[in-house]
Amino acid sequence: MKRSLTFVLVICSTLIARAQVNDWENPSVLSINKLPYHATLQLPSKEKACKEIVSLDGQWLFHWSKDPESRPADFYREDYDVSSWGKIDVPGNWQTQGYGTPIYININYPFVKDRPRVTTEPPKDWTAYENRNPVGQYVTFVDVTKDMLSKNLILHFGGVHSAMYLWINGQKVGYSQNSMSPAEFDVTKYLREGKNKLAVEVYRWSDGSYLEDQDMWRLSGIFRSVQLWVRPLVHICDYQVTATPNADYTEFTVDAKISICNTGKKKAKDLLVQLQMATPELYGVSVNPNHWNVTNHRIPKLSAGDTITVDLSFHYASRPRLWSAEKPWLYPFTLELCGMKDSKNNEKFEYHFGVKKVEVAGEVFKINGKNVKLRGVNRHDHHPKTGRYVDDATYEQDIRLMKQANINFLRTSHYPDREYLYELCDKWGIYVMDEANHETHGYGYANRVMGEDLTFQKAHVDRAESLVKRDFNHPSIILWSLGNEGGVGPNIEAMYNKVRELDTTRPPFYDSDRRYSCIWDDSYLYPDDLRREAQKVSDKPFMMREYSHAMGNSCGNLQEYWDVIYADSSIVGAAIWDWVDQGLQRDGYFAYGGDFGDKPNDGEFCINGLIAPDRKPHPHYYEVQYVYQPLRFVRKDNGRIDIINRDCFTDPHEYDITYDTLHYDGEVLLNVAAHLKEDKPWARKGFVVAHEQFVLKAYDFAVNHGDRHSAIRSQSSLLAEEPVPVIHIDGNKLTSWIVDGKEMLEAPLEPYFWKPENDNQHAAHFAERVAMWKEVKDVKVKYTVINDRSIRVDVDYQPTATDRPVMPKFGMRMRLPKEFTQIKYYGRGPWENYPDRKRSAFLDVYEMPLNEYETEYIHPQDNGNRCDIRWFEIASAQQKLHIEGLQPLCIRAWDYGEEDLVGAKHPNEIHRGRFVNLNIDLNIHGVGGADTWGKRTLPQYTIDGNQPHHYSFFLSF
Ligand code: GAL
Ligand code: MG
Repeated sequence: MKRSLTFVLVICSTLIARAQVNDWENPSVLSINKLPYHATLQLPSKEKACKEIVSLDGQWLFHWSKDPESRPADFYREDYDVSSWGKIDVPGNWQTQGYGTPIYININYPFVKDRPRVTTEPPKDWTAYENRNPVGQYVTFVDVTKDMLSKNLILHFGGVHSAMYLWINGQKVGYSQNSMSPAEFDVTKYLREGKNKLAVEVYRWSDGSYLEDQDMWRLSGIFRSVQLWVRPLVHICDYQVTATPNADYTEFTVDAKISICNTGKKKAKDLLVQLQMATPELYGVSVNPNHWNVTNHRIPKLSAGDTITVDLSFHYASRPRLWSAEKPWLYPFTLELCGMKDSKNNEKFEYHFGVKKVEVAGEVFKINGKNVKLRGVNRHDHHPKTGRYVDDATYEQDIRLMKQANINFLRTSHYPDREYLYELCDKWGIYVMDEANHETHGYGYANRVMGEDLTFQKAHVDRAESLVKRDFNHPSIILWSLGNEGGVGPNIEAMYNKVRELDTTRPPFYDSDRRYSCIWDDSYLYPDDLRREAQKVSDKPFMMREYSHAMGNSCGNLQEYWDVIYADSSIVGAAIWDWVDQGLQRDGYFAYGGDFGDKPNDGEFCINGLIAPDRKPHPHYYEVQYVYQPLRFVRKDNGRIDIINRDCFTDPHEYDITYDTLHYDGEVLLNVAAHLKEDKPWARKGFVVAHEQFVLKAYDFAVNHGDRHSAIRSQSSLLAEEPVPVIHIDGNKLTSWIVDGKEMLEAPLEPYFWKPENDNQHAAHFAERVAMWKEVKDVKVKYTVINDRSIRVDVDYQPTATDRPVMPKFGMRMRLPKEFTQIKYYGRGPWENYPDRKRSAFLDVYEMPLNEYETEYIHPQDNGNRCDIRWFEIASAQQKLHIEGLQPLCIRAWDYGEEDLVGAKHPNEIHRGRFVNLNIDLNIHGVGGADTWGKRTLPQYTIDGNQPHHYSFFLSF
């Protein structure tokens, strides 16, 4: 008796325990009542005009709770009063609208790793301790007419992070996770005429979060658009259009698979599905009229509840205009469903296809038969004000800036972006690697834990399926990525198989388990290692899905990479990490990890972009633009200029080529440029796509400064002939210089070999390695006073040891009064440049205020250098200091000191404006260009501390 009672108790408690498993902590529940994923039906840019779509974007009512227990669980009920709730913008993240805490973290999970649970007790100082799993509850009211009720009503959520429940008028509709893909629910039977209460409950974390461990701000909410689709009862529920050329590109075939479903209660009869090539005016291009075509298919009947897939295909016996990033030729079409007799069911979508072929031929990756090089960048969907929601205008700005920088390849790291981005890539021409929302880095790079945990297999596959199904019809997509820094094992194999099953025209890519990738990835290698590693791999093409970590002042030695890539046909290309600094706008600065008190966090490690959060290009953006340019100009000994074309589908003659000769102080420069011959959506006619500078006659430093040599009157430490001594020299230092009765030196001119680190150097322990250079050694400065307004400085370093580390810089420093804020110089510019990142900065005479000469990095660090300076002037309203080198100089000018830069976490903390700090150097350590976790500046861009160095310059007021 007793035994069976225990038995009954055990059963009961098991049942209770089962009942208590939350959907959002249960990897076998990915959705409830969610409709199947399908292709984007209407071109995103035409959605506003689409009759079927009612946008529900706008202000919704909102309630935030720090954990599931404290949420008002019955908020969805019709009688629950939400009138006192706050408002929130949909789409948007709640953390960027004043609710809860944004957390920036790279590899680790922001909650305690205890899968599938996400609410296990964390250390007390974690954000997730108090806010164990915040819940955002949303309410909005939707008006529905009687006419709408006679249709099929589908509620579409573009993206909700990380898991959501939906109720309508108090009735539970469904559940979804997989935050970066749409979730759709058939809500027809839940809606009624008049006002309807729509209630959504969003969980910050769910078991899905175990697959969403990307290095980014961890933000939550309904962050993409919400739409109510009012659809005919019988409608197009999915379609895939593939356009492929034949083997010799003389003909092509268009295959369309179109699925029609009948959501009504009655059998549908005599339907017609029709695919029609659109009229040429649509894109302002001319299509040979013979190419227009209409293909249709009749469906005699479709039973209630049934779905049918019809195949339409047409073959063109004429040469296709191929789609490529260089020439993004699109064929617009319309897809229509109508009743043969009854036009009530009419529906029509507009889309486009591109004819192209992606091939992996042995170790060569080809597009349209050509060994295309992918000049790439990675991009997170990030906006400084709206977080994970990025509006259309910002998308356009991003793709425009990419095209202008000659970037032809975009990896949507690390999840599918909003649909409009892909449309822009289709139209403006960018090759896309579309990536599944899958990263499990918190278990380690290429971990077996998540790769082998079969309870998570369905969730892995769900992410591959949602990726391919939604974006199938974008010609810009050339590769499907299974994710980033995830697992190894059967779960990846299952994702791979799913992608293969859904699309045979674009191969899968994956970094962590190379068995399931058509391309061998190895990232962040030094250029020489890239050359070596690529040679070792012979069965697949090779790429660096990430390289040139663009954190802070970086992206050195970019040309060295591309010399290797262009020399090896098996290297597909490489994509910079990454596009935009992930800073969040706060009063006066861009915030990064820790700025919101978020814990744990990874600080400034999210600030790695080519452009700032507000889309202002950093200096290294321009270096990318130069190194990625499609044409290279080479000047031969006989003066002839050869053009090397890096593109595959564009002829150099398609550009206007100009030649400009510049004369400065006897130096003769030749600037060659290739300009667009016509307007493009991303740049105007005349825009420079590629350029180069040649020195025809070099600057003669000795001759240009010859006068001053002959003018030397004295070498004493003070000018005895003057009534009042105006120049003081004390050993190696120039301690005072009075001009027009005013002291010009806020701090002496002295040898100075130190410089603050940039982010790359910090990670490579630069400061510790070269700490000895905080004090100068073995240097002698000779001052030659020419007159009271002019001095020659000779700096000589003769090492007395042989074990010295590299020098941060070799040169001098001085401080001028704060009024010296106008700069004019002849050297490389206009943007900041360093020895390993100066190819884009051409020689010229530039003029700018001091604050433009400086670069304001979001995480303050060394900045502002200009190389190869012939002369440099810095002026106040009254005085001007003129500097001339007897060889090229490197000069940095700041309105703060080295010491002010080091402690500051944000630029607004830098103590500015007390003096002007001038570093006048022969050379400076390069910025580095591999990664920000230990790799160093290439040796050719460093300064050997064991070799003598010498340089000279003149200073005159
Ligand atoms: C990569 C990773 C990126 C980012 C980068 C460092 O390995 O794939 O997501 O974390 O490192 O900024
Ligand atoms: Mg990672």
